[in-house]
Amino acid sequence: MSTASTGSSAALRQVADLPAPRGLPLIGNLLQLSPTRLHLILERWAEELGTPYRFQVGSIPITIWTDTELIQQIMRERPHRYRRYQPIEAVLEEMGSNGLFSAEGAAWETHRRLVMQALSINNIKAFYPTLSDITQRLRTRWLRAAERGETVEMTDDLKRYTVDVTSALAFGEDPRTLERDHGVIQEHLERILPSVMGRINALFPYWRYVKLPADRKLDQSLVEVHRYIDSMMARARERMRDEPSDTPRNLMEAMLVQQHGGEHGAITDAQIRANVLTILLAGEDTTADSIAWTLPYLAADPALQTHLGEEAHRVLGDAPVCPDYATLKELDIFEAICIEATRLRPVAAVHSFEPLEDVVVDDVALPKGTRMFFVARPAMIDAKNFVDPQRYDPWRWMRKGEHAAPEGAHDVRAYLQFGAGPRVCPGRHLATVEMRLALSMLMNEFSIELAIDPAKINEVSAFTMVPDTMPVRLTKRRR
Ligand code: HEM
Repeated sequence: MSTASTGSSAALRQVADLPAPRGLPLIGNLLQLSPTRLHLILERWAEELGTPYRFQVGSIPITIWTDTELIQQIMRERPHRYRRYQPIEAVLEEMGSNGLFSAEGAAWETHRRLVMQALSINNIKAFYPTLSDITQRLRTRWLRAAERGETVEMTDDLKRYTVDVTSALAFGEDPRTLERDHGVIQEHLERILPSVMGRINALFPYWRYVKLPADRKLDQSLVEVHRYIDSMMARARERMRDEPSDTPRNLMEAMLVQQHGGEHGAITDAQIRANVLTILLAGEDTTADSIAWTLPYLAADPALQTHLGEEAHRVLGDAPVCPDYATLKELDIFEAICIEATRLRPVAAVHSFEPLEDVVVDDVALPKGTRMFFVARPAMIDAKNFVDPQRYDPWRWMRKGEHAAPEGAHDVRAYLQFGAGPRVCPGRHLATVEMRLALSMLMNEFSIELAIDPAKINEVSAFTMVPDTMPVRLTKRRR
C-alpha cells in the first residue's frame, strides 16, 4: 500500500474504474440512500461488490474502504495529507459548531491542545469525586425505577449521565439532568446530530433556501443550545472573577484564558461556543450508546450477569459505586463487555476522510478532495482479525485473570472505534472510565432484562450509530 502524491498512471485504477452499485442517470445512487440506514446500506454494498467500491451522489463519487491497515495509515497522515470529509465542516459551521471535531489546520491544533489537557488522565483523576457522585445519582434513579417496577429507557438515562459528566468535567457546571424529568438540554442536543447526518449526505443544501418543519425545529434547538452555552460562559467568567485561580480549572476556563491571546493565538467567543457544543455532542451519544448496546448481550446471558454481579461486589463491596480512581483498574471486565458490544454494534460505524493532495491508495488514484468513507464493522467481524467473530465474548479482551482469552486471532488494530493517529478521540479515557463505573454499579445492584424483543431494536445512523430504543427492566439483586 502507498499513500503518496502521484500523477496519473496507466497502471493505476481510477475512481471511475471502481465497482459501483447500479444507479440512475444524473442522481446516481441517491434514491437508494437513506441517511438513517446509511451504514447498513454501505455494509451491504461492501459485501456485494468488495472494497474499495464507490457510489454516486449525483456526479460526486464517494469511495468506500474497509481495510483497517490502510485506514490506520490514513488516520496517521492527518492533518497534513488528509482531512475530515469537507461537508462535515461546512454543515457544522452553519450550526455554530465548527469546533475540534471538524476544525482543520492551525485552528484544529490550538483546540486540540486545550481539549487534550482538559480530558487528560490527571484531570479525570482529580475529577473522580464528582464522577462518583454523578454515578450515584444514576444509581438512585435506577433504584427508584426498580422499586416502582418501571421500565427504564436506557438510551435516555445514559445520555443524562454522560451529559452531566461531560459538562461537570469540561465546563465546571453540573446540569443535574439525572434528577430532572423535563426541560433538559438533551432534548435539544438530540436534534442536532441526526440533522448533521442528513445534511452532509444531501445532494443539494435546500435548507439554505427553504425551511421544512424539521429545519425550523433544528433552528429552535440551536438557539436554545447556544443560549445555554452563553449562560455557562457568563457564569464561568463570574467564577473566574470572584474565585480567581492560577491555573484554569476546566476546559471552559482554559478557553476563556486563551481569549486574551495565549502563545497559540487568541480564540473568539464563537470558537469557544463551537467547542463547547462539540464536546457536548461528542461526549454524549457515543458513550451513552456504547453502554446501551452492551445491555442486550447482558440480558441474553444470565450466567454472565451473575458472574459480573459477583465480580462487581468483590471490588465495590458495600460501596454504592467504585470507591476511588485507583480501584477502577480492577474493573477491566466492565470495560471489556462494552468494547466487545461495540465491536459487533459499532457506534462509530462510518469514518470519513478527504485527501488534501492527489494520492494513491491501494493502487487507486484519488484526486485531491475525493470523498472517502471507512466502514468499520466488516473488519471487526472478520475471522482474520477476531476468532469466532460473530460471538459476543468479552473475555477475548481480557489478557489476565482466571478466565483465559480464547485462542486465535485478536487484532486490536482492527478495532477503530476511537479512531487513530493525531486525531484519535481525546475523550476515550473518560469514556472507558464511565463504562467501568456505570456498568459495575449496574451489575452490582441489579439484574436486567430487556422489555422488548432484541430483534426489534434497530440500528440508526444518526452521525453515530444508535439503538432506536433500549427499554430495560431492573430487578434489585438479593444477596
Ligand atoms: C465510547 C465513546 C466514544 C467513542 C466511540 C468516540 C469515538 C470517536 C471517534 C471515532 C473520533 C474520531 C477519531 C479520529 O478521527 O481518529 C472521535 C473524536 C473526538 N471525540 Fe470521541 N468518542 C467517544 C467519547 C468521547 C468523549 C467522552 C468525548 C469528550 C468528552 C469525546 C470527544 C471527542 C472529540 C472532541 C473528538 C475530535 C478530535 C479531533 O478531531 O481532534 N469523545 N471520537
